[in-house]
Amino acid sequence: MKTVAVLVGSLRRDSINRKFAESLAKLASDRLKFQFVDLGDLPVYNEDLWATPPASVLRLKADIEAADAVLFVTPEYNRTFTPVIHNAIDWANRPWGKNSWAGKPAAITGTTPGATGTAAAQNSLRNIVSVVGAYLMTQPEVYFTYKPEVFDAEGAITNPETRAFLSGWIDSFARWIDRVGA
Ligand code: FNR
Repeated sequence: MKTVAVLVGSLRRDSINRKFAESLAKLASDRLKFQFVDLGDLPVYNEDLWATPPASVLRLKADIEAADAVLFVTPEYNRTFTPVIHNAIDWANRPWGKNSWAGKPAAITGTTPGATGTAAAQNSLRNIVSVVGAYLMTQPEVYFTYKPEVFDAEGAITNPETRAFLSGWIDSFARWIDRVGA
């Protein structure tokens, strides 16, 4: 089964984006294996640190390179994606000539409590994900307004329409990985 490195752009314990990503992992588990990448111990990007690369940075690059694809699940902060995601992208993009994102099939989603469902954040993130050379699936899109009532106590998506919609998106991503992946 193809593996997907999942980068969640929120570090907080009760993150709705983490919950949403975990629900997607459950829903995808018969098609794709989601592996969550730890971003909480990455230092803020500093070129000088390459002299003695932090273990967290080397682990990030290894996790991305080992996966068949990557999925960004981003909150929206002030109409853009979060610094946690930007920092991870920058680290794994370097050192020069060793860009971990190159040619990696990728998808973006995210959730907010608000009606726009991270549309602005995802639109901004598309630019940088494309710049670092990942092969981004641009359609279909999922802008997800977080509503606790569509999940059960274990975080599985129970609402039938929501489940069918998200399952279709996962099918599309699995096909995208097969089509453009190495
Ligand atoms: C937000 N939030 C927010 N929501 C939104 O829909 N559009 C926005 O532009 C912003 N801006 C914003 C800025 C900052 C600094 C914070 C902390 C929050 C609200 C945000 O969607 C909400 O806090 C989510 O719960 C954050 O995601 P996690 O951490 O729960 O995954």
